[in-house]
Amino acid sequence: MKNTIFRKKSVDQLLHQHGKVRLNKTLGAFDLMLLGVGAIVGTGIFILPGTVAAEHAGPGIIFSFIIAAIVCAFAAMCYSEFASSIPVTGSAYTYTYVVFGEVIAWIVGWSLLLEYGLAVAAVATGWSAYLNSLLAGFNIHIPKAFSGAFDPANGTFVNLPAIVIIFITAFLLTIGVKESARLNTIMVGLKVSVVLLFIVVGVFYVEPANWKPLMPFGMKGVLSGAALVFFAYLGFDAVSSAAEEVKKPQRNMPIGIIGSLLICTVLYVAVSLVLTGMAPYTKLNVDNPVSFAMQLVHQDWISGIISLGAVIGMMTVILVMLYGGTRLIYAFSRDGLLPKIMSEVNPKHQTPAKNTWITATLIVFCAGFVPLDKLTELVNMGTLLAFTFVSIGVILLRKNKETPNDGFKVPFYPFVPIISFVLCIFLMSQLSTHTFIFCGIWMVVGLVIYFIYGRRHSLLNK
Ligand code: ALA
Repeated sequence: MKNTIFRKKSVDQLLHQHGKVRLNKTLGAFDLMLLGVGAIVGTGIFILPGTVAAEHAGPGIIFSFIIAAIVCAFAAMCYSEFASSIPVTGSAYTYTYVVFGEVIAWIVGWSLLLEYGLAVAAVATGWSAYLNSLLAGFNIHIPKAFSGAFDPANGTFVNLPAIVIIFITAFLLTIGVKESARLNTIMVGLKVSVVLLFIVVGVFYVEPANWKPLMPFGMKGVLSGAALVFFAYLGFDAVSSAAEEVKKPQRNMPIGIIGSLLICTVLYVAVSLVLTGMAPYTKLNVDNPVSFAMQLVHQDWISGIISLGAVIGMMTVILVMLYGGTRLIYAFSRDGLLPKIMSEVNPKHQTPAKNTWITATLIVFCAGFVPLDKLTELVNMGTLLAFTFVSIGVILLRKNKETPNDGFKVPFYPFVPIISFVLCIFLMSQLSTHTFIFCGIWMVVGLVIYFIYGRRHSLLNK
């Protein structure tokens, strides 16, 4: 088995690999839900509903959110079974290393890199839009040329605020400011309050006439909308990477993952209902739809508070996603699949500083020059690809006699993993052709790196 590309890691090896460093098991189900909501609520709710309603689904965007939530719920159950039987960091990359072997693990990890890397870029782009709207409230205007992705026809060349926020986050990560549970709790509280504020105030301005026609672009629009707003739910998989620090992971992991997904679904459906009720969907094609809707009804103060909440709230998503991306690269490098420099730890701060700067610099190119809608589609593609492997992986996991299996189990096995797999493929099929082409190129580059470098340097050679 040693030299084949399908060589596997054993669970035993994984659980003892970092034997010396034992993380404290301090997190319970509630902490996990907070972590989840912190990682999930961001651009997907503050920005995407605008364009998706205007161009794809109309008020039917509510159904898009529900469909995307169903797909995520199925995948979340599969994630939960993995996280409960293999409670180590590394998420889907580690899981597939156990059940499918090295080359598939690499493909999944490489897709996740697309997810984390471009999600950072996408959320930073969204963050920049809300910052602009917030500053405009104080009559401060960032020069147009520096306020958006490369689009000379529209007068924008580079998204400077997005670049700055990514470098600031990278700096924080290199000096070791991780998600401290306290800071996260405050940020999550703030984010959720702002979303609730929008719902509670907005509901008084709803004109039911705005919900007609409910599905101006038909079912097709609702489905392509679902493939886009899927982005709004990303981050729940990040919960599984805290596995090593969770008390009773078999019980708490599934509650944390599925619970945070449930909370977000309720929030999202309520926001989209109110948003499309407040303004005709055709008017929502703006960078900051949620605060824009409040301006339309002359609630300028509320609009400002929402922008401020969004700006602060989205920073946690950037932090978690950049953290996830750099740690994934760290894991590749530690396993020998990428050069050692990516897992060198800075002696002073105990963080992979070089890795963080290199990763941030690459991401900055995407955030600075590529528009948000292109970015989100690619993020969704990478994530759905990883989800399909996790779904089908559950079946192999059950067959693997080595793994402990006394924790959470997907109900209605094998139907749930199979349905999850089919739903992910279906949602992927709703994405555009250029997304498939770009994703194909990304995968080819990944495989070339694996065959030229990873396969020869993998630790499993030893
Ligand atoms: N779910 C995250 C967001 O919407 C990626 O910003």
